[in-house]
Amino acid sequence: MPYDHFFSAALARLHAERRYRVFADLERIAGRFPHATWHSPNGPRPVVIWCSNDYLGMGQHPKVIGAMVETATRMGAGAGGTRNISGTNHPLVELERELADLHDKEAALVFTSGYVSNETGIATIARLLPNCVILSDAWNHNSMIEGVRCAGVEKKIWRHNDIDHLEEFLAAEAPERPKLIVFEALYSMDGDVAPVNQICDVAERYGAMTFIDEVHSAGMYGPRGAGIAAREGALHRIDVVEGTLAKAFGCLGGYIAASADIIDAVRSYATGFIFTTALPPAVCAAATAAIRHLKTSRWERGRHQDQAARVKAVLNAAGLPVMPTDTHIVPVMVADPEKCKEASDLLLAEHGIYVQPINYPTVPRGTERLRITPTPYHDDSLIDALAEALVDVWGRLGLPLRCRALAAE
Ligand SMILES: Cc1ncc(COP(=O)(O)O)c(C=O)c1O
Repeated sequence: MPYDHFFSAALARLHAERRYRVFADLERIAGRFPHATWHSPNGPRPVVIWCSNDYLGMGQHPKVIGAMVETATRMGAGAGGTRNISGTNHPLVELERELADLHDKEAALVFTSGYVSNETGIATIARLLPNCVILSDAWNHNSMIEGVRCAGVEKKIWRHNDIDHLEEFLAAEAPERPKLIVFEALYSMDGDVAPVNQICDVAERYGAMTFIDEVHSAGMYGPRGAGIAAREGALHRIDVVEGTLAKAFGCLGGYIAASADIIDAVRSYATGFIFTTALPPAVCAAATAAIRHLKTSRWERGRHQDQAARVKAVLNAAGLPVMPTDTHIVPVMVADPEKCKEASDLLLAEHGIYVQPINYPTVPRGTERLRITPTPYHDDSLIDALAEALVDVWGRLGLPLRCRALAAE
């Protein structure tokens, strides 16, 4: 093929920059979360997963598996078409009702992923607002950045979580100009949280519309699992809530929840919604089962926070460089792409612990890290084993540990 060398050169660049990615070949074991089998080069080996975004283990909850199996048996595997042609199935309609109720909005619309819901949702909403300007947090996820780009309208990037900077931009615009503020509730690489009420204060002051991404918080925060805006009592102040069905709800798909008119307009204009096959009914039923369960069960949320706090305390006491967070994300800083990859390889090969390295471009260069995501099912003995393994790996790679006495303070 005369073009092959372009692709091999592109791959060589990634290798040279030490950011070529390798995926671990894993097989999760339903009912034994977070245990899995790693199909290593030397054959199958047991491992413990420490970096799953199935944050609450709902992907293996008996109610969720039961709903998926029962619905697939009754309705078959696929949706049968786009929503406009023949893909609207009853479980999908029920799922949208469940999501609207979860976020206390008039309506919801489901997409094939959280990525698509951001990309096509932001782009469509901005294009429907005449002469719109988008104000986007500097740390927004790639799916939001692409949504802003696809909108093709003027954009202003405010410094991460900096309300004064956001207000500066808002104040500079004519009062009548439509403004759309897009931001995440919880930033998943650093584990920090947006000042949601302050953002709503300035949005209201300058007549801006708000679009919040609750991908890493829905299911896990708020009294019924609606996310950070609900926890902060700000849900009614947010115009559009975006989320995923693939993380705390353990399935696949994305959504937005908003007023009936916004949802109807996005349904009618969003190309990323119109021209793609709907989610399979079994996936919708499984997601609905997860959402319903988490609306009333607080056990998962409570235990999740307890175990995340325990991981932070144990790793800190061991002198490991845990980045401070107030959430369930536990980033451990390595600050070197090669050592980050080597640490991950050693953990997997020698300790049966799977933590994927997080390197550029997911995080800025020089801030490479291991991103640990404890779940309710990581018990205390797994946490102790993780700390021991990390200390061993840190020693072997010559990575600095903080003084244990100071770390324990
Ligand atoms: C903040 C944020 N938004 C959206 C997405 C996309 O969600 P999904 O995985 O459902 O496509 C991600 C993915 O990890 C994310 O981190």
